[in-house]
Order: sequence, then structure tokens, then C-alpha cells
Amino acid sequence: MKGKITFTMIKPDATGKNLTGKILSKITEAGFTIRALKMTRLSKEQAEGFYAVHKDKPFFADLVKFITSGPVVAAILEKENAVESFRELIGATNPANAAEGTIRKLYASSVQENAIHGSDSDENAQIESNYFFSQLERF
Ligand code: CMP
Repeated sequence: MKGKITFTMIKPDATGKNLTGKILSKITEAGFTIRALKMTRLSKEQAEGFYAVHKDKPFFADLVKFITSGPVVAAILEKENAVESFRELIGATNPANAAEGTIRKLYASSVQENAIHGSDSDENAQIESNYFFSQLERF
């Protein structure tokens, strides 16, 4: 059965362009309910932990540098079939390949500075949610 929860993080390129409000509006207009929300800035160690699955990729060091370059806005979102539905809303990782109307098509500038993260599986949605939020921070 598909899960109802996904995790997202608005990245420093988008927070730096003051796009947080517009992006959260797109998310709630698409039918997602915000169950947890925080603005924070990741340390190098926290970023390396969050993206540990990519640690052997050639872009890892640049990714950590970018994601720690400014604040991020992390959230837990609820909707039926949340992971797949959210990935449709944000569009392809590379904004050049993202469909019209998606958040990355609208607001991302490159494969690295791609405005927003979305979990790629129900399992990772749980892991990533737990990485950012305690039980007391969820509603
Ligand atoms: P995200 O969905 O947060 O998951 C991993 C991130 O790595 C991805 O978004 C991109 O920001 C980044 N990424 C993926 N592929 C590349 C690439 N080829 N070059 C640079 N960054 C990448």
C-alpha cells in the first residue's frame, strides 16, 4: 500500500530568492496538508548525513556546500500516495527536463540548485522525516 506521508525541503536557492511562501502555497493548493514545518540551516555534518546515500557521487561535495549555504525549510506532508504525487508536483531533478507548471520548472535554475527536495520512496520519507523532526514537532 502506498503511504500518505512524504518529506520535503525547500533548498537555499529558493529560500534565498524569497520563494518559500509561493512554494508552500503550491504545495497546499495541490492538496497536501503540512504536518510539520521548520526553517533551519544544516551543518556540514548534518548535510552529509542527510545525503549519505550520494556520498560516492562526483557531485557530493558541491551538494553539501550548496545545501549548507543558507537556510532550508523542511516539512512533512500528508496526502494519498504522497511520495509519487509530490514528485509529480515538483518535476524532474533537472529543471531542464521538468514538466510545465511543476515547482522545479517554475523556480529551479540547475540540477544542483533545483529549489526543492522530495522523498523518493515511502521508506526514505520516514527516514528523512525522522532526521528533521521529533514526535513532538508533528501534528
Ligand atoms: P535531491 O532530490 O535533493 O536529491 C539529491 C540531489 O543531488 C538532487 O536533488 C540534486 O540537487 C543533486 N544532484 C543530483 N544529480 C546531480 C548532478 N548530476 N549534479 C549535481 N547535483 C546533482
